[in-house]
Amino acid sequence: METSGHAIIEKNLGLLIVLIIVAISFGGLVEIVPLFFQKSTTQPVSGLKPYTALQLSGRDVYIREGCYNCHSQMIRPFRAETERYGHYSVAGEFVYDRPFQWGSKRTGPDLARVGGRYSDDWHRVHLINPRDLVPESNMPAYKFLADTPIDPASVAPKMRALRRLGVPYSDEDIAKAAESVKGRTEMDAMIAYLQGLGTLLRNVR
Ligand code: HEC
Repeated sequence: METSGHAIIEKNLGLLIVLIIVAISFGGLVEIVPLFFQKSTTQPVSGLKPYTALQLSGRDVYIREGCYNCHSQMIRPFRAETERYGHYSVAGEFVYDRPFQWGSKRTGPDLARVGGRYSDDWHRVHLINPRDLVPESNMPAYKFLADTPIDPASVAPKMRALRRLGVPYSDEDIAKAAESVKGRTEMDAMIAYLQGLGTLLRNVR
């Protein structure tokens, strides 16, 4: 019987595994690498600004508290989603998000465009006890955020690290960071962060 190349590969497990890895890696590279160079995925949408010192502190509280376990920040391009949340999410909205908070679990609503939907006071009451506003809510209460001050010295190093990754913070932004969060609580920071989410494409249809 003639031995085809195919038979050799199929009978040699080590070779088969190596070739599978090569094939999958190649497929992955072809799909993923071009995204690093495409304008639509690397350019900020017009008007996008890096998070302020206060918002950045709020974002870190969001990550620390694991809000992403119940909330996505990614509106998919389906009618049911755009009717409820607004314009679908685009890559250019997230270029300064490191790490991004897209998430994949929606125990609660998507938050990609929650900015401006409610007042600051609404958020404050809601975070202190969600059931005061939404009786059936199973969201945990985060009252302690209002009692926890932000450490002003913690912000500038984060901004410097982000600048190294390409977020355009100026020296002035970084120099003023500590001053701008002085005396503010984690609650203030969280609300500032939430109120900034997704506002740029809010009215685009
Ligand atoms: C156990 C799951 C869970 C966690 C964790 C959670 N949430 Fe929620 N969240 C919900 C649910 C359910 C709702 C819808 C009911 C309500 O409004 O309370 C909600 C609603 C919200 C809303 C209102 C959204 C809208 O469009 O009406 C905001 C804002 C919000 N959550 C922020 C947060 C933040 C910030 C955190 C982290 C500090 C967090 N959530 C953690 C489940 C969760």
